[in-house]
Amino acid sequence: MPEEKPLSVLFVCLGNICRSPMAEGVFRSLTNNLPSSSSSPHKAFGTIDSAGTGAYHALDPPDSRTLAVLAKHGVDDYEHAARKVRTSDFSDFDYIFAMDSQNLSDLNNLRRRLVRAQPDADATLAKAMLFGKFGGRSEHEDVEDPYYGGKSGFDTVYEQMVRFSKGFLAHVEQHRGGE
Ligand code: 4NP
Repeated sequence: MPEEKPLSVLFVCLGNICRSPMAEGVFRSLTNNLPSSSSSPHKAFGTIDSAGTGAYHALDPPDSRTLAVLAKHGVDDYEHAARKVRTSDFSDFDYIFAMDSQNLSDLNNLRRRLVRAQPDADATLAKAMLFGKFGGRSEHEDVEDPYYGGKSGFDTVYEQMVRFSKGFLAHVEQHRGGE
């Protein structure tokens, strides 16, 4: 059977310093895609990245509370510089996962503008979706923004990212013939 093309995944929140870097760190860890990984990266995945719908924190590292929770769970070598979502993300990524319904709505508006300018692109551009749909609880499970809250909010985000990632990985395996 021919090798299938690796899938690329982009995680999106508002600032790209709390939730989407948590998602990226967890997902990289679950797919052995961190610099420290001793085993080879998960064959099914290529580029894994994260971005924000806002540019307030462009080039900033992840929030220290996100990094602390990741480190507590053994992910201590994840690095990222925040960036804003760009229109090319819709052609560069297979999956674009929004952390909450506002992020999803912003991504859908951006995509609509792209399609209006270039109707032929509709079939080829990635469609954004809520990452929470893979969490097994509700199609509409949002990841609440933990930025202005206490540290426990970051533990909640971590738990969601692990659950959603595992649900998504199970979905991919099911649709890729269980590789
Ligand atoms: P994030 O959290 O979207 O999970 O990265 C936020 C971080 C910063 C801001 C908003 C949300 N902010 O407005 O600065």
